[in-house]
Amino acid sequence: MKSIVVANWKMHPATFKEAKQLFEATKKAAEKAKGVSVIVAPPAIYLREIVKLYKGRRVAFAMQDGNAEAVGACTGEISIAQGKDSKAGYVIIAHAERRSMGETNDGARRKVSAALNSKMTPVLCVGEASRDGTGEHFNFIKEQLRIGLADVTAPKVSQVIIAYEPVWAIGATRPMEAHDMHEMAIFIRKSIVETHGKDGMNMKILYGGSIDETNAAGMLRDGDIAGFLVGRASTEATKCAALIHSLSEA
Ligand code: 13P
Repeated sequence: MKSIVVANWKMHPATFKEAKQLFEATKKAAEKAKGVSVIVAPPAIYLREIVKLYKGRRVAFAMQDGNAEAVGACTGEISIAQGKDSKAGYVIIAHAERRSMGETNDGARRKVSAALNSKMTPVLCVGEASRDGTGEHFNFIKEQLRIGLADVTAPKVSQVIIAYEPVWAIGATRPMEAHDMHEMAIFIRKSIVETHGKDGMNMKILYGGSIDETNAAGMLRDGDIAGFLVGRASTEATKCAALIHSLSEA
């Protein structure tokens, strides 16, 4: 099965020298693997230099976040337009760690639009903090999708990638169960069909949370997903290569 791996390096590594080494290992694994599209999301300060190191076609690049305004008086911010100028083709939007630092559904909505306007692919992250057995988390996800996608027209909706990352599975010891992911993937598509029509059926959905080389293939097979948003396992060269290899088509 074809798959997508978004390597979300978060705030790693500490030096550009290490970033180059990690990228080299990631690139090598990506080029050997069949059917795996790798998208590297480095810290923004490394992005342009890393892009320059790469001449091939198997790896693409993402921003980890981006401001919806192209320019402005926003000390410390980096705009989606600037990311595009640095050759990022994707932008991760409203990651759980950004939400915990104040990102809102409305902020996500503006960023999704800005990414599409810049001809970049938005990777809109959704995910509940916890589950209590009442099914309330489904309403929570539906609301994140409804607002995050509110400015996207129906014909464009399948250009957005949805990353489902339950907060309780991020940085944990194991991912969620594949059959629970499958159920959530169906729910996500159904919710988007309700707001945007039948193209919602074609949404690419990624799973994120404690994915590594031991569990990715099973999740891809049974989770009804197109691939992964990976944190820790993407920041260690050997683990990242093993993960990509584990998804390579035979
Ligand atoms: P981990 O893979 O470290 O659990 O992180 C998941 C994540 O947040 C990817 O964006």
